[in-house]
Amino acid sequence: MKKLLLLVFLALTLVIALSLTACSRNYNVTANSNQQAEQASTSPSISKQEGTKENVAQTPPSTTVDELVKFPENYADGVLYTTVNRSNIREEIFTSREAVNAVKSGQPIPSGTVITLMDYRDGKLFRYVVMEKHTGWGVEYPPEKRNGEWEFQAFNADKSVNEKEDLNRCFSCHKSAEQKDFVYTFDQMRSVK
Ligand code: HEC
Repeated sequence: MKKLLLLVFLALTLVIALSLTACSRNYNVTANSNQQAEQASTSPSISKQEGTKENVAQTPPSTTVDELVKFPENYADGVLYTTVNRSNIREEIFTSREAVNAVKSGQPIPSGTVITLMDYRDGKLFRYVVMEKHTGWGVEYPPEKRNGEWEFQAFNADKSVNEKEDLNRCFSCHKSAEQKDFVYTFDQMRSVK
């Protein structure tokens, strides 16, 4: 009889011990998965990746020009390679020394080149027009529109983007200068000192 009681006691202890372990394991499992969920939602690398994917997916190529050609804050550090005077209009055109050197030595205008035209009317700054070239730019355009790897942008005198400007006009007119890498003042760039 004593033996039987002892056995039952042992069995009960075992059951209790087992269920306790099981419980604590369960608890650990939930705690872990909560932690993982938390990490996933707060981890900067993961949310950054998702963010970039979303941005790329939401931005169609046709609306990226604003982001592509930024206002060239440092244009005046480059070379004022030509000035054009026509009735009440005066244009001062700047580019980088690298671009000038490339053109002078018969090399293609390098990727990253910015050309800035300051447009004055009656002696007063009226606007800036800018063209910028980068490897891979322009691929989304049909051949009849594309100006190689150039993009265009028009800025108001206060350096803000002129949203009203139809940039197709820039493409269609500069297309005529295709033989000179779409740059009308290519020869002036080549002959500057
Ligand atoms: C109707 C033709 C025409 C249109 C439209 C036009 N351009 Fe031009 N662009 C020229 C000509 C011609 C020159 C050479 C300077 C001059 O004679 O005024 C020039 C010069 C430039 C230059 C200096 C580099 C070069 O090609 O000589 C830049 C930069 C420029 N244009 C940007 C623009 C931008 C940006 C637009 C659109 C907002 C634009 N252009 C629209 C004809 C045009």
